[in-house]
Amino acid sequence: MNPKVWEASGHVGSFADPLVDCKGCKERYRGDKLLEEKLGVEAAAVLTLDQVQPMLKAEKINCPNCGKNEWSDAKHFNLMFKTQQGVIEGEGDDIYMRPETAQGIFVNFKNVLNTSRMRLPFGIGQIGKAFRNEITPGNFTFRTREFEQMEIEYFVGPNDKKEAFDLWKQAVWDWYTDLGIDETNIRVRQHEADELSHYSTQTVDIEYEFPWGWGELFGLADRGDFDLSQHEKFSSDDLKYTDPDDATSKFLPHVIEPSFGCDRSVLTFLLEAYTEEELENGDVRTVMKFDKRLSPIDIAILPLSKKEHLVEKAKEIHELLLEHTNLVTDFDVTGSIGKRYRRQDEIGTPLCITVDFGTIGEDKEQGAKDTVTIRDRDTLEQKRVKISDLRAEIAEYWKN
Ligand code: GAP
Repeated sequence: MNPKVWEASGHVGSFADPLVDCKGCKERYRGDKLLEEKLGVEAAAVLTLDQVQPMLKAEKINCPNCGKNEWSDAKHFNLMFKTQQGVIEGEGDDIYMRPETAQGIFVNFKNVLNTSRMRLPFGIGQIGKAFRNEITPGNFTFRTREFEQMEIEYFVGPNDKKEAFDLWKQAVWDWYTDLGIDETNIRVRQHEADELSHYSTQTVDIEYEFPWGWGELFGLADRGDFDLSQHEKFSSDDLKYTDPDDATSKFLPHVIEPSFGCDRSVLTFLLEAYTEEELENGDVRTVMKFDKRLSPIDIAILPLSKKEHLVEKAKEIHELLLEHTNLVTDFDVTGSIGKRYRRQDEIGTPLCITVDFGTIGEDKEQGAKDTVTIRDRDTLEQKRVKISDLRAEIAEYWKN
């Protein structure tokens, strides 16, 4: 985006992390993160830039690479990626990759307001890539330099902020727990005053207990009218909202911002879903116990054998589901049925449909003609169902 956007938003001046260099091996680290590992999130969050290096020494936190305790003073390291726009070498404008999706919403605020004629309160949501030159990316997809954000800028009257803040805090908590995050694995943490981002007057994070400790999953900030007033100043454009019931009442809306990391949310859902279960026969099955709305595959159709006429029948059933439902399906014929069930367990597929010789009227012991077996991923229950009832049966399962 145009650099003026990032000057207005405060990111050029303030979007930085405390960088420390190891004088021994020249590796670079985020000083606050090194301290966080030893002292915990709360204690590290309140430290000022000047305190980082003395604390690293006092706490005897050594370089993870070379083991020395020779730290440079901490300095601000701007996290934005800079590049050039324009085709002539050296004559282009400096531009920045967006470090948050939010600013795209603020600079479009007036267009949205004028074209959609919304009344307060209303929100604008966006999902998209964000880029940060993170000093220490890592922990799988927890911290990467290119990631996906899902942000909502929720515009409210200045007096309605508290209510909106509380509403979103609860709604987001419910969203995560409803989708399968165990309540004992998440917590709400209020930011201390000196930890707040440059735009925020109040922030709470929802943190998750990752295998390496508690870390931020989601952030909710009261951005006040900081962004709109900055963009108004820099663009000389009037971004005020006029109360539709009182044309004399013109003001800049305030903003409550729920900001989700998409990748971090996915990582969390993966960690929560991963289960190893010991079966009666002593085998261990690995199963991803996703909420059924999150499973990448909804239903798998598995012909018991590769016999052509059985596969034909299974394909008919597959077609039936493709035509009449919105489910994401898999069709798998390779390997023993047991192996295929395990494969679907590892994907987290909630239901498997097995088409056997009973289905085609060749083996009464397996089941009646024109029936199939539905297997439930979690209970391992198997149920014989008429093909004519299959759609209703599946619809009922998804309704619950
Ligand atoms: N607009 C507000 C904002 O960007 P943030 O706390 O810096 O706030 C919001 O980021 C969310 O984006 C975080 O809660 C986290 O889930 C995700 N996030 C931030 N930096 C990330 C990174 N380097 N890699 C993956 N996810 C990241």
